[in-house]
Formats: sequence, C-alpha cells, structure tokens
Amino acid sequence: MKIFSSTPKIGSPGFGSLNLSLLIGSASLLIWGGLYVGKYSGRFDSDEFSEIPHGRPAKPVVAALDPNAETIKKGAKVYAAVCIACHQADGNGNPGGGIPPLAGSDWVTTEGPSRIIRIVLHGLEGPVKVNGTAWGQNQMPAQAKTADNPAGLTPEDIANVLSYVRNAWGNKAPMVSVDMVSTVIKDTAAKSGYWNPDDLMKMPVMVGGGAAPSAAMTPDQLKAALKALSGEQLEALMKEVKK
Ligand code: HEC
Repeated sequence: MKIFSSTPKIGSPGFGSLNLSLLIGSASLLIWGGLYVGKYSGRFDSDEFSEIPHGRPAKPVVAALDPNAETIKKGAKVYAAVCIACHQADGNGNPGGGIPPLAGSDWVTTEGPSRIIRIVLHGLEGPVKVNGTAWGQNQMPAQAKTADNPAGLTPEDIANVLSYVRNAWGNKAPMVSVDMVSTVIKDTAAKSGYWNPDDLMKMPVMVGGGAAPSAAMTPDQLKAALKALSGEQLEALMKEVKK
C-alpha cells in the first residue's frame, strides 16, 4: 500500500509555495527575535532583562539626581506633618479660623525668604496683610526646634518646607537653603516672642540684609538718586516710566 502516494513532490507548485512562505515566516521571526533581544536585553554580561531600550536614560535615576526635587519632596513631608493642620493641603488656609493662604501669598513668593524664615522660627501675631487682604484674628506659633520646643523643626526641615511652599500650588520662587536658615537664626539670636507683621515688613526680604531688587531703595534714597539726575536724564526717565 502506498501511504504517501498523494504527497506532492518537491518542485510541484503547491508544495513549493508552502515551503517558501514557511521559510519567509520563520526567517522574519528570527530577525524580529534578534532585534528584540538586541534592543531590550541588558548588557551581554547581564543576566537580567532590561525594560529600558539601549541608549535611553533611565528616568528615575535622573529624577533622583535633581537636588531640588529631593528637597521639595522632603519639604512636602514636613508640610504634611506640621503646617497642613492650619494652612490646609491646598495651601488656601482657613478664612473662618483666621488662617491666611500660602498659595499665591506675596509673603511666600518674595525673591528673598528672610521674613518667612523668621515667621517659621518665631511665629507671627498681629494684623498681617496677605495680597492686600487683612488678617490677624489668630496667631501662628513658633515652629523651630529649641530647648522649649524639642520636637520643633531643624534648620534643614525649615529650608525644605519653605522650598516646598515656595514651589507648590503654582507658587514659583527660589529655593531656601540650610545656610540661609542658619544665617537668620544667628541674626535673630536675641529675638524673643512672636514677630509682629509691621516689624517684619521693615526687614529686608533678602537673607543677610541685602534688599530685593524690587525694593532696592527707601523712598528717601530714591528721592536723593532722582535729585542727582540732570533735567534731561529725569525727563528721559519719566518718559520711560510712563510708557
Ligand atoms: C497653628 C496654626 C498654624 C500652623 C501649624 C502654621 N501656621 Fe503659618 N500662620 C498661621 C496664622 C494664624 C498666620 C497669620 C498670623 C497673623 O494673622 O498674624 C500664619 C501666617 C503664616 C505666613 C505669613 C502669611 C501668609 O499667608 O503668607 C506664612 C508664610 C506661614 N504662616 C507659613 C507657615 C509654614 C511654612 C508652616 C509650617 C512649618 C506654618 N505656617 C504653620 C497659623 C499656622
């Protein structure tokens, strides 16, 4: 009995085309497999599969190398442990409880953090204007770690939390360093009791006593500087200002 009598012979049309498509199919599988392994394998000496295609930087590593991201993350933790009870998660404060907002606050987003470091160190009491709105029904207790308040915030905590509030909820202001906080601690060593907002307003906003560019001169200094200008210079300046 001939079992294979109906098997097509190699070279006959049907068999030949079947073979060709099998050949092409397996060849492309091999090529695809090779490319896949080449692209997604780790280094040759690694025995692990790597999800990151060769040549692309690994995102988590880049984020960890951004010092601001790390500081802000630590600051968010301090905020959640300490400030959130009063100023709320959205930074909008609690108007009913006399708690002003930090989101968008002109105190928080000034160029220099000297005043807000003082507020966190020693507390704040008295009528305070935030973006033109008057507050003062409540007071903010001192938050710094001291002999009287051993559970308070370290200079690093304060730098981190202020860097966070200056860059959360759409706020955008320069980071606060531990050095800045330490400088203000030295400058205010003799301070006792809460700050009064009016006294704080007289302090330079820049740590170390420099003034912010926008508040570089007192009105008297400005007057003196204007007097020193020639008539033509003054005229040119007024034109510039009125543009
Ligand atoms: C117990 C409630 C309370 C806590 C906790 C608290 N604050 Fe305050 N904070 C206040 C009050 C009340 C005022 C306004 C005081 C006044 O009216 O004189 C204020 C004012 C401020 C101001 C100036 C005004 C403004 O709105 O910008 C800043 C900045 C500030 N707080 C930051 C912080 C930060 C940062 C923390 C956490 C480290 C914190 N506060 C924790 C109650 C609190």
